[in-house]
Amino acid sequence: MTRLRFDDLRQYSDVLRSRHGQAVTVRFVEPRDAEALQNYFRALSTRSRYNRFLGAASELPPSELDRFIRVGEADRFSVVATMPVDGRETIVGEARYAFDSQTAAIELGLSIDDRWQGHGIGKALLKNLECRAAAFGAERIFGDTLRSNDAMIALARKSGYGFTNTPGDWKLTRFQKDIHVEPREIPCASWRLAAVSPSAMSSPAV
Ligand SMILES: CC(C)(COP(=O)(O)OP(=O)(O)OC[C@H]1O[C@@H](n2cnc3c(N)ncnc32)[C@H](O)[C@@H]1OP(=O)(O)O)[C@@H](O)C(=O)NCCC(=O)NCCS
Repeated sequence: MTRLRFDDLRQYSDVLRSRHGQAVTVRFVEPRDAEALQNYFRALSTRSRYNRFLGAASELPPSELDRFIRVGEADRFSVVATMPVDGRETIVGEARYAFDSQTAAIELGLSIDDRWQGHGIGKALLKNLECRAAAFGAERIFGDTLRSNDAMIALARKSGYGFTNTPGDWKLTRFQKDIHVEPREIPCASWRLAAVSPSAMSSPAV
């Protein structure tokens, strides 16, 4: 199982590609991102925010924002997807995932800036989260989404997820996928390094 070096989280950054080959960096959220992250959520369309938070919200409540930027606390992790836009590193997507060691499962939620939706970034980010899940030794990855969320359902279906009822909430559907990756075969460079290099491990993540 991967253990993270919390003093150097940047080593777990990955560079993904949009459908048209643009580089998208995925990295852990840092405290300095708090304002940009809140602005990102505020700038999402009402519909995207509703789909992301499974209900109406104009922004992240301060307590939730605080949790968002505390990477690793309670086995919860937040990443941002960034691209250079007009010469500035800009958040174009985010994801949050939680590892449950009891069930060996990772639960996720994600969003992409409306202006960048349809560019293949959601698909690439979801793949990257599967890679991070594999590095944790997770056997399953899943998320809950509104039954009306056609985009998320299409993305999950095309990414090989199956569907089941979300326990206790008929408005939601659960997309889930088993993870069949040996630690040595983890398909993203930074996480493979973390998984196999004992010298890269110091504090346990989980
Ligand atoms: C769902 C979401 C993350 C998809 O991200 P995205 O970057 O736009 O998706 P991609 O461009 O990677 O598309 C992936 C696949 O999903 C399909 N898809 C994406 N949006 C779609 C839509 N609106 N309708 C139907 N299919 C859609 C695409 O056809 C694509 O398949 P392809 O690669 O074979 O063409 C994005 O729409 C979003 O952020 N929505 C708001 C927040 C949200 O709903 N989060 C989910 C909560 S868990």
